[in-house]
Amino acid sequence: MRLEGTKQQILELLRNNRGQYVSGEELSRRLAVSRAAVWKHIRALRQEGYQIEALTRRGYCLKSTPDCFYPEEVTAGLVTSWLGRNLYCFDEVGSTNQVAKELADGGAPEGTVVIAESQSSGRGRRGRSWLSTPYKGIWFSLILRPRVAPARACQLTLLAAVATAVAVRELTGLPPGIKWPNDLLAGGRKLCGILTEIKAEIDLIEYVVLGIGLNVNLEASDFGPELKSVATSLYLELGRKQERLPLFQKIMAELETWYECWQEKGFAPVRRAWKEANITLGCPVQVNSWQEVFQGLAVDIDAEGALLVRGAGGEIRRFNSGEVTLSPTG
Ligand code: BTN
Repeated sequence: MRLEGTKQQILELLRNNRGQYVSGEELSRRLAVSRAAVWKHIRALRQEGYQIEALTRRGYCLKSTPDCFYPEEVTAGLVTSWLGRNLYCFDEVGSTNQVAKELADGGAPEGTVVIAESQSSGRGRRGRSWLSTPYKGIWFSLILRPRVAPARACQLTLLAAVATAVAVRELTGLPPGIKWPNDLLAGGRKLCGILTEIKAEIDLIEYVVLGIGLNVNLEASDFGPELKSVATSLYLELGRKQERLPLFQKIMAELETWYECWQEKGFAPVRRAWKEANITLGCPVQVNSWQEVFQGLAVDIDAEGALLVRGAGGEIRRFNSGEVTLSPTG
């Protein structure tokens, strides 16, 4: 979904003169097109959600831009230096993780981002599906190519949870709690899920795809009966609609900052921030790992990001991966 050519140039001129009127005559002169062509493109921009006021003898003025993931809109407010600079925006895809993996297989550089307004087969962890209601959430994936041992890739999922939680807190005032390893919860319900996929040799990561799904403006009726009691959105928690674009741009900025910090300083700063935002430690939990179901008290995450759980007999078990259920009774 890219605004091409003249339409794109008109938008840029209006954006650069925000709050002011640019005459049809000037637009047509600067872009070497007829006044009728200018008008046609203005009409098309309006249809895409741009509010453009037209006044006789004064011209056109850009009043507001749509809260949509058009590449121009995303890029206009992006403060990252490399993350999202190679950007793919779609109206609908099957799964942004799938698209990102295909791009990564084709050699797409680190920092490539795929975002979609909706996903027809959004994927969750453990083979589950992910509800991706059109225009109501932030559904995106990014490609990373860290030069670390594959065992460290799981730290990136904790890092993504921290970055997203910080962005949500700073922009909306709502502080999500992180359930190990990377679910963001609000009011005990899931607000955001993260799906990390990796392609690696035994000692070398080829790429990591981090897929993040944040429920922004979903209403209660968007969640089916099976999700109603376990899922939530920023809108449901805060009682007001949120603009998705600035939130996405902030998440990108936080992701870039935390990723650079992780590369420079290792996992320790991420671990500290994760522990500050977590709602897992100190709680009785049930961990469903591939091998077993284990109940105990979540006591810490270690220097690698693994969850440490103390069982009834006092023994400490370490989990690299698994699904945690917080239970008041253990
Ligand atoms: C989970 O089960 O908690 C993980 C959910 C991850 C959903 C996101 S939405 C964007 C990206 N594309 C997908 O198909 N899944 C992830």
